[in-house]
Amino acid sequence: MTHVETTTAAEPQVESVVEDRWWRDAVVYQVYVRSFADQSGDGIGDLAGVLDKLPYLHDLGVDALWFNPWYPSPLADTGYDISDYRSIDPAFGTLEEAENLIAAARALGIRTIIDIVPNHVSDEHPWFQEALASPPGSPERDRFWFRPGNGADGELPPNGWQSIFGGSAWTRTQDASGAPGDWYLHLFAPEQPDLNWTHPDVWTEHEDVLRFWFDRGVAGVRIDSAALLVKDPALSEEPADSVPGEHPFTDRDQLHEIYRRWRAIADGYAEPRVLVGEVWLPDAERFARYLRPDELHTAFNFDFLACPWEPGPMRTSIDSSLAAHAPVGAPATWVLSNHDVTRPVTRYGRDDTSFAFESKREGTPTDLQRGNRRARAAALLAMALPGSMYVYQGEELGLPEVEDIPAERRQDPMWLRSGGVDPGRDGCRVPLPWAGQRPPFAFSGEGADRPWLDLPDDWAPLTVAAQTAEATSMLNLYRAGLRLRRTIAALRAGNQRDADLRWLPSSDSVLAFARGEDFICLVNFGPDPVDLPDGASVLLASSELEGGALPYDSTVWLRQTNPHDPSGVRSPRADTSDRSNQPASGTVPVLRKG
Ligand code: NOJ
Repeated sequence: MTHVETTTAAEPQVESVVEDRWWRDAVVYQVYVRSFADQSGDGIGDLAGVLDKLPYLHDLGVDALWFNPWYPSPLADTGYDISDYRSIDPAFGTLEEAENLIAAARALGIRTIIDIVPNHVSDEHPWFQEALASPPGSPERDRFWFRPGNGADGELPPNGWQSIFGGSAWTRTQDASGAPGDWYLHLFAPEQPDLNWTHPDVWTEHEDVLRFWFDRGVAGVRIDSAALLVKDPALSEEPADSVPGEHPFTDRDQLHEIYRRWRAIADGYAEPRVLVGEVWLPDAERFARYLRPDELHTAFNFDFLACPWEPGPMRTSIDSSLAAHAPVGAPATWVLSNHDVTRPVTRYGRDDTSFAFESKREGTPTDLQRGNRRARAAALLAMALPGSMYVYQGEELGLPEVEDIPAERRQDPMWLRSGGVDPGRDGCRVPLPWAGQRPPFAFSGEGADRPWLDLPDDWAPLTVAAQTAEATSMLNLYRAGLRLRRTIAALRAGNQRDADLRWLPSSDSVLAFARGEDFICLVNFGPDPVDLPDGASVLLASSELEGGALPYDSTVWLRQTNPHDPSGVRSPRADTSDRSNQPASGTVPVLRKG
């Protein structure tokens, strides 16, 4: 049984931030429309469903929504294969509905970010259809990467690049008579041909698409696969160890020119639009280059997302994230999950709590109760860090990964192309449960079609309705945390240039940091309860305190009110289990024995 304490503070006052810097400490809620709420009754979430649930999102306390691709798509990669960048998938609604939704959300103070996919298009996109219908060497084919094959009859791919979804990154074309022809490049599925970013049409088209949506009130874009767009025109083989900037299709220097152009467009609006990059790069310095003041505003922090639930790696991840962002003056982002990765409740319930695409460990022993406890603690940790935060729909409900989806229901190309070896990403994309005792838990109404992915039978306690009624639920923890985050000036300090996180001395199994004058966050990763600093009042805790101490796998937010130490957080000593070493002011979190 857990217990959540909140302050008795009156209705939250939103900290006054400079409006056009809202993105520096925003909470962005990721809407996977297909699985959010289905109003039309076809088993697929839609924009009308999102509109209907805007009060829920407002009440949750988010600043912006990021929509996964909402465009027409043949769904080879659930929407990341786009056939028309200027309209809405009919299964989701219409362009007019999108415009209404953007405006209605904004009326509630919620901005809209949409997904832009510039690395590839759908094979049904008119450009690719034109290219297929045109002869080798034609201008239509120049917008993509068509090449003759190797081998006597061109039967081998042009090079050895591998698709991120498995198998060769090349697919051979056939002419109208069925005779084999040139090959084309696709870093993802064959239905996602890569665009050629040396072609001017590709530049102008995307700049026009940005304006199209910005003109409709969209506040920003999330840029898919942002570090992959530019390829080495020589299509050189991947080296075993590549020098940063010289990999043939990742993080090439010419990318920055694209984003500088996009930034100029974004800055041209009275309320500047925001660019958020999906940038998976291990090299922190190379990563930060994308966040220079004339490029992207923020990028997803995948290091933190993949980090195991252990104090050392977590602290290293936080420190290195802040250090990487500081020189370019960009705020960090804190992300625990998204539509591509294992749900935190499941991941944190395993022996190995890290995330890696190569080893998802589906079906390994999982203690969901433990995972839930850690996910709660991780949520309060993430909310307390300087910068912006992302919440993937269902994270606030503590949904677990659904691991028993029957083979015939799975849709993800990662699963399909690996012949089922890779479990894929369907398990984190299952529709949200809203209310009721039986599937589909009001995701769709009475008499609706079967949801595109089934909701598990045992999700009744996880519905929004059930969790709203349960004071200590994950949902109410998120609500309380996000509400408090708005009221505590120190936690909105991401809008300042210098993030002010200050680590406090603590034992190895505890992370303790202060922000502002009097805010403290303590996270206990160890098995033993940790005493709270004297003179600290509890604002919010992820688990019920035990005799006033913070138990295992828990986070607490504190306000330091120690009259003997007005600064509250400047304790000189490291934590120790030897109580006699505790400083008089008692501001150090102490590991309690036994
Ligand atoms: C990253 C997206 O998050 C993922 O879902 C998609 O499959 C790939 N990019 C390809 O667009």
